[in-house]
Amino acid sequence: SKGEYKHFMLKETFEQPTVIKQCLEGRISATKVLDQAFGVKAADILDQVEAVQIIACGTSYHSGMVTKYWIEKYAGIPCQVEVASEFRYRHTVIAKNTLLITISQSGETADTLAALRKAKEQGLLASMTVCNVPGSSLVRESDLCLMTNAGPEIGVASTKAFTTQLTALLLLTVALAKRNGMSEAAETEIVTALHQLPGLVEKALALDPVIEKISQLFADKHHSLFLGRGPMYPIAQEGALKLKEISYIHAEAYPAGELKHGPLALVDEDMPIIAVAPKNDLLEKLVSNLEEVKARGGELFVFADESVNLYDLDDQHLVSLPTVPCCLEPIVYIIPLQLLSYHVAVLKGTDVDQPRNLAKSVTVE
Ligand code: M6R
Repeated sequence: SKGEYKHFMLKETFEQPTVIKQCLEGRISATKVLDQAFGVKAADILDQVEAVQIIACGTSYHSGMVTKYWIEKYAGIPCQVEVASEFRYRHTVIAKNTLLITISQSGETADTLAALRKAKEQGLLASMTVCNVPGSSLVRESDLCLMTNAGPEIGVASTKAFTTQLTALLLLTVALAKRNGMSEAAETEIVTALHQLPGLVEKALALDPVIEKISQLFADKHHSLFLGRGPMYPIAQEGALKLKEISYIHAEAYPAGELKHGPLALVDEDMPIIAVAPKNDLLEKLVSNLEEVKARGGELFVFADESVNLYDLDDQHLVSLPTVPCCLEPIVYIIPLQLLSYHVAVLKGTDVDQPRNLAKSVTVE
């Protein structure tokens, strides 16, 4: 049941601190990622991985996109990500000793399942699914499974499934990285961060009243642009997907560095620009992109680290988030974007849990 909440989506959004804890349960010690997290057969397989291919659709594809940044950064293993409906129908080349990872909330997405079957025929080191539904088709047909343990997700717009996928995939990243020279100190740093994650998500959720207020500025908009850099680019994509899916506002996401290559032409006072700006080594570059937007009369909504002073943007809409360890930025910064799309949808009076034309589980292509 929805309990005290008006919609399943809101309930599921607020469940995130709890389900992230559930996802981490039994998988980390105080300082280490436990090998048992990936099942008994895993250690042997993970030892041999030389390449990673991720396949997924929709929101699950966006967690795959974030994971690519992580795996290449921390584990130094090449990682490719593709939407399942493309992968399944093209001539694909699978590198030697590839671990193929499907990501899916339902475990029943037709294209993802077909892509897995096709890849298996081509020859893989092993397949793994990161999935939320025990006993689902993807779980049954994969060699390894990493359950997200988020509990049933009812709202069509995926929320807690996404953040638990990311949590599980960060654990997997560490497991691969350890086998490729990650130091114990670096592992401890990530695991220590993971212990703080539920609390940080809680703090992001506490921004709800601020975001609800801001959402009023969107209700009459027809278009929007989401910007991010690095692993925050897929977060911009996920934020845009949430907004279009439940509020029916056209939303596009761009890596901020691409602005000059076309989308800047769209910017005027009717085009809200939403940016995710944690404090990392890409912040300066992002801010200069945002200044360009401002100079062209764009209205900016910036979700930024509370410890950075964005003087030049302080006449814009700024929402401060707590300082977040770098590896957790994508998981924490998606929260305000989930809340934003929720409140905009409520204002527009759409069917938040059952948006038009969409199904929770896409079992036909
Ligand atoms: O069950 P799956 O994770 O395989 O589903 C994939 C997509 O259909 C799903 O994420 C969809 O994009 C969501 N409605 C997004 O909120």
